[in-house]
Amino acid sequence: MASLHLVVVVILIWLCLASPPEVASASEEACGTNTSLEGYVADLWMYQRQLRGRVEVLDGCSFQVSALDLLAGSASARWWRAEGPDLDSLALGAPAADEPLNRTFLSESLVFRLLPGVSWPLIPVLAAFDPLTSSLFGFVRLSNASDDSSSSASAPTMFDSCAELSPRLRVRWTLDNDSNSIDIGLEAAIGSEYYMAFGWAAPGETKPSMIGADVAVTGFTEDGLPFAEDYYITKYSECLLRKDGIAEGVCPDTIYKGNDTAAGLVNNTRLVYGHRRDGVSFVRFSRPLVSGDKKYDVPVNATMNMTVIWAIGLLRSPDSLRPYYLPLGHGAPAGTAFGLLYYSFA
Ligand SMILES: *[C@@H]1O[C@H](CO)[C@@H](O)[C@H](O)[C@H]1NC(C)=O
Ligand SMILES: *[C@@H]1O[C@H](CO)[C@@H](O)[C@H](O)[C@H]1NC(C)=O
Ligand SMILES: *[C@@H]1O[C@H](CO)[C@@H](O)[C@H](O)[C@H]1NC(C)=O
Ligand SMILES: *[C@@H]1O[C@H](CO)[C@@H](O)[C@H](O)[C@H]1NC(C)=O
Ligand SMILES: *[C@@H]1O[C@H](CO)[C@@H](O)[C@H](O)[C@H]1NC(C)=O
Ligand SMILES: *[C@@H]1O[C@H](CO)[C@@H](O)[C@H](O)[C@H]1NC(C)=O
Ligand SMILES: *[C@@H]1O[C@H](CO)[C@@H](O)[C@H](O)[C@H]1NC(C)=O
Ligand SMILES: *[C@@H]1O[C@H](CO)[C@@H](O)[C@H](O)[C@H]1NC(C)=O
Repeated sequence: MASLHLVVVVILIWLCLASPPEVASASEEACGTNTSLEGYVADLWMYQRQLRGRVEVLDGCSFQVSALDLLAGSASARWWRAEGPDLDSLALGAPAADEPLNRTFLSESLVFRLLPGVSWPLIPVLAAFDPLTSSLFGFVRLSNASDDSSSSASAPTMFDSCAELSPRLRVRWTLDNDSNSIDIGLEAAIGSEYYMAFGWAAPGETKPSMIGADVAVTGFTEDGLPFAEDYYITKYSECLLRKDGIAEGVCPDTIYKGNDTAAGLVNNTRLVYGHRRDGVSFVRFSRPLVSGDKKYDVPVNATMNMTVIWAIGLLRSPDSLRPYYLPLGHGAPAGTAFGLLYYSFA
């Protein structure tokens, strides 16, 4: 089994808390401009520096960014206004607010004030931008809220909750009770040749085990494309096809023999989004809480404490014998390369 010798600088933003908004003493009467954008909410689209956050237009001259994450930019980095998010437009843009984005923000909620003379109609795109290095950290597009006041432009990097699984791996999630599904984002400061696996152990075991666990294996192909696949664990070994054709180990659900696998009923994990930025792998996928696959999926009750397992390890690319991404042994130590957790996701 490959042991893990990672020489990756961990630059995840590790705070995973939502802090209450810091209510600014601003937004007084001085800010007279009326705006149809008031109440408009949109998520920042991440480009660099792990930028995350939800922008809300408060009034004619201020905006709040909640759950703001950002790795410190240079002293010239600013909230920036531009016609578009492309570098040409950004180069022609101008600062939108005075505060430099020169420090690391950890899940903060802050109110920013537009510079004097700047108003929302002048800001089709609000970006976090460093004009010195021409680096776009991320942006939101502002459109008239009138079409749908409740509409929130959501970004795939944003979730309702988050938890640290290890110093290297974090899970984010958003529950959708109504559609019986959960969106899960895995995020790790690892090389692109590593997988991130996460899922639920078989319930009802007295001693939690990886055997019988239902996990998603996520990672990136050699072409840099993200993937997320539904796996099931029958044995502490890499997936192997025995002579009799039976698969065992850590295998995709679809590889196990049976009518249901042939009928495609077992492939229940859906890739939503993935990227690698700043040396951090991020993959978002969606899975049903309770799927129709009784054999290779664990029914998840989000309000109940259940054992979840996770692992990080090297990935082997598909070949003619094994047409799927093969997670290799995760190695040791526990808590860094793999682990389990008793947790409720409600
Ligand atoms: C903003 O516009 C609305 C509707 O046009 C109006 O009712 C409200 O008084 C205006 N607010 C300010 C501060 O001008
Ligand atoms: C950010 O810039 C401001 C204004 O230039 C300065 O006062 C502050 O010390 C800087 N903060 C950091 C962390 O560099
Ligand atoms: C909002 O709508 C007004 C009138 O329809 C238009 O003039 C303005 O450009 C729009 N603003 C944005 C940001 O789309
Ligand atoms: C889902 O259900 C749980 C438990 O009933 C509840 O706490 C949570 O708020 C619900 N989430 C949504 C998005 O409805
Ligand atoms: C597969 O389906 C056939 C026909 O429906 C049934 O006879 C057989 O027992 C099934 N095999 C398994 C392993 O479920
Ligand atoms: C699982 O389903 C998805 C979407 O329908 C599909 O793209 C993917 O190829 C399937 N995977 C397998 C192993 O069949
Ligand atoms: C989930 O667990 C809670 C508390 O243990 C229970 O009340 C609820 O009925 C369960 N939900 C489902 C769908 O099994
Ligand atoms: C889950 O377990 C933790 C720690 O044992 C406990 O504090 C928490 O109340 C439990 N939650 C539920 C929903 O049972």
